Amino acid sequence: MSDGGGRPGRGGCSPAMLLCAVLYLCAAPLAHGLRIHEYLYFQVLSPGDIRYIFTATPAKDFGGVFNTRYEQIHLVPADPPEACGELSNGVFIQDQIALVERGGCSFLSKTRVVQEHGGRAVIIADNAYDNDSFYVEMIQDSTRRTADIPALFLLGRDGYMIRRSLEQHGLPWAIISIPVNVSSIPTYEMMQPPWTFW
Ligand SMILES: *[C@@H]1O[C@H](CO)[C@@H](O)[C@H](O)[C@H]1NC(C)=O
Ligand SMILES: *[C@@H]1O[C@H](CO)[C@@H](O)[C@H](O)[C@H]1NC(C)=O
Repeated sequence: MSDGGGRPGRGGCSPAMLLCAVLYLCAAPLAHGLRIHEYLYFQVLSPGDIRYIFTATPAKDFGGVFNTRYEQIHLVPADPPEACGELSNGVFIQDQIALVERGGCSFLSKTRVVQEHGGRAVIIADNAYDNDSFYVEMIQDSTRRTADIPALFLLGRDGYMIRRSLEQHGLPWAIISIPVNVSSIPTYEMMQPPWTFW
């Protein structure tokens, strides 16, 4: 699969990688704000059965950062889910956030498709639906193209549970808050999806 990234986000951590991370953090200008954090959080407000705080990881070297906090914005599953070309529900993605599935084309290509449809950001869920621990580090493909909107990676299990809930309710989108500052939420631990503790 050529999606421009398949390196584990957890586990392997060589001294060289650590050094890179340190240099990267030091070099990151303050203006980058949320980019220097390893995780970015969002909360589903509706539908109620998945009213949890989800953990995502920003793309490593492409896409924008969240300069705005969206108190309420639609999270719209793209149709087709891989979002490698024209979207049949693109009109609903305008000024909202798209939920996309990994596979079929690069992370960057998906991000650009959503951007071209006027999306504010894209959340790309792993296509391993039962995976509740593997964060892929999303990196550029080899095309030298760029993207301006933020791109986030979401666990396969989380993406699957969000899509399944929307299907069960017959809803075209979820309503979310993003980004969420979890250190200001005393009950954060209780608000994580229960399936991540399986
Ligand atoms: C998740 O994916 C990673 C990488 O493919 C794998 O090592 C891990 O075992 C998977 N975990 C589950 C629960 O499927
Ligand atoms: C997050 O919340 C904590 C605790 O309320 C606060 O100290 C911190 O400044 C907040 N961070 C941001 C980026 O708003």
